Amino acid sequence: MKLHINENRKLSHIEPEVYGHFSEHLGRCIYGGLYVGEKSEIANDKGMRKDVVDALKEIKVPVLRWPGGNFADEYHWMDGIGPKEKRKKMINTHWGGVIEDNSFGTHEYFELCEQLGCKTYVNGNVGSGTVREMSEWVEYMTFNGVSPMAELRKENGHEKPWTVDYFGVGNENWGCGGNMTADYYGNKFRNYQTYVRNYDGNKPIKKVCCGPNADDYRWTKEVLETCFRHPAPAAAHGFMDGFSVHYYVVVNSWEDKGSAKDFSKEEYYRAMRKAYYMDDIISGNDQILSQFDPEKKIAMLVDEWGCWHDVEEGTNPGFLYQQNTMRDAQVAGATLNIFNKHSDRVKMGCLAQIVNVLQSVILTEDDKMVLTPTYHIFHMYRFHQDSDLLDSFLEGEENVGIGEDVATNVNESVSVDKDGVVTITLNNIDADKNNEIEIDFREKEVKDVEGFELAGNMMDYNTFDDPTKVQEAKFEDFSFDGKVIKVNMKPCSCVTLRVTL
Ligand code: AHR
Repeated sequence: MKLHINENRKLSHIEPEVYGHFSEHLGRCIYGGLYVGEKSEIANDKGMRKDVVDALKEIKVPVLRWPGGNFADEYHWMDGIGPKEKRKKMINTHWGGVIEDNSFGTHEYFELCEQLGCKTYVNGNVGSGTVREMSEWVEYMTFNGVSPMAELRKENGHEKPWTVDYFGVGNENWGCGGNMTADYYGNKFRNYQTYVRNYDGNKPIKKVCCGPNADDYRWTKEVLETCFRHPAPAAAHGFMDGFSVHYYVVVNSWEDKGSAKDFSKEEYYRAMRKAYYMDDIISGNDQILSQFDPEKKIAMLVDEWGCWHDVEEGTNPGFLYQQNTMRDAQVAGATLNIFNKHSDRVKMGCLAQIVNVLQSVILTEDDKMVLTPTYHIFHMYRFHQDSDLLDSFLEGEENVGIGEDVATNVNESVSVDKDGVVTITLNNIDADKNNEIEIDFREKEVKDVEGFELAGNMMDYNTFDDPTKVQEAKFEDFSFDGKVIKVNMKPCSCVTLRVTL
């Protein structure tokens, strides 16, 4: 098989946010995962777990979406500010019926983002919140002058406003976010977004419209028709900066998703086939978006994606806690390659979710922490952030799989960074066979190559007792000469090459 790369042809810019994450008040994502509180015996900085924050910094988390998810459309931000002992307690009805004590709120979220050094993406409440509530939240977070909300923020100990980079106007409003019709939501979006004011002209908030559940193109079309209908505020800059898309890889069905760590080879290839479907979903939605926005000014944000398996036995079903194997790593690798290839439109991706929920990069248990195979993929792909996608394609790849569950055996993407170093990410999804790949550059000779790999059995995963069973290692099974690199990939493996030309 050959991978052809035209190192002279840059196609689009890969925004760092494509490698973003999602954190919801769900199970042990926030509480116990990211935040333990200042009084905890677990090492923390202003309540944020030090071990987790340090590990996340290594993968260069570029943006963190919060507070949901389903939770966002039931979240009333005023419950989460002021002295902690006075904050309202509520039942988290969506997720496990546990008590939410609101000890992690707006101030804690911005503190966390500051510690991570990442951009902020706050998701507002359209489902059960008012325009006024949303507008006052934005004022509280971003207004620098004298105003009731700015004064309240100061009273609560934060003199200066924060930067809200992205603001989501509702979440999954076709379902959990209010069960709205597309036309109804489209009008709500027009209305609510009006009051997401840009108080700081230098840092306008990017407003995100709720897009479809995966390939529900009818939602996409109808929402956009309503949003852009006369008189269309769309003409004004900053009306709609982003359009969200959610897609989960559910291996079998929503009723019987399948085990996260004990699965057949058919189920492995089914997951891969379903992961590759992300390509169609992006293209399908992009085609419709392009009818309204041919210049691609509106970014597509795949702000929830990942594998959704059955919960780990013995855990609260509402906590969505699941293990994470090499299969999940392959899904992540393929998905991120697809995002790179669509980086002309896809400007953000948020893996669901960052810690202890669904396809996490980190799992915790009390004071223990383990990095999942998916974590290592994000680490190996971090070089793509803020790089330019290069023109590349495979020749001679084959389908692999069982029955209907087939997918091409290798997937790839290639970028070049500001220093001219080329990053190639390749995944051999074949569970049994090696794959030899010849990589050809068009004109330039290869001066140096450095390689990293993640390899294992499709069902391998890390545990608190065996945290390094699957881990990134140096990759050395390659040679290079002139314009060609020859690579030999193990079965079920992911390889990153850093190439100096
Ligand atoms: O990530 C879990 C849930 O999946 C989110 O809360 C919701 O937006 C989606 O349905």
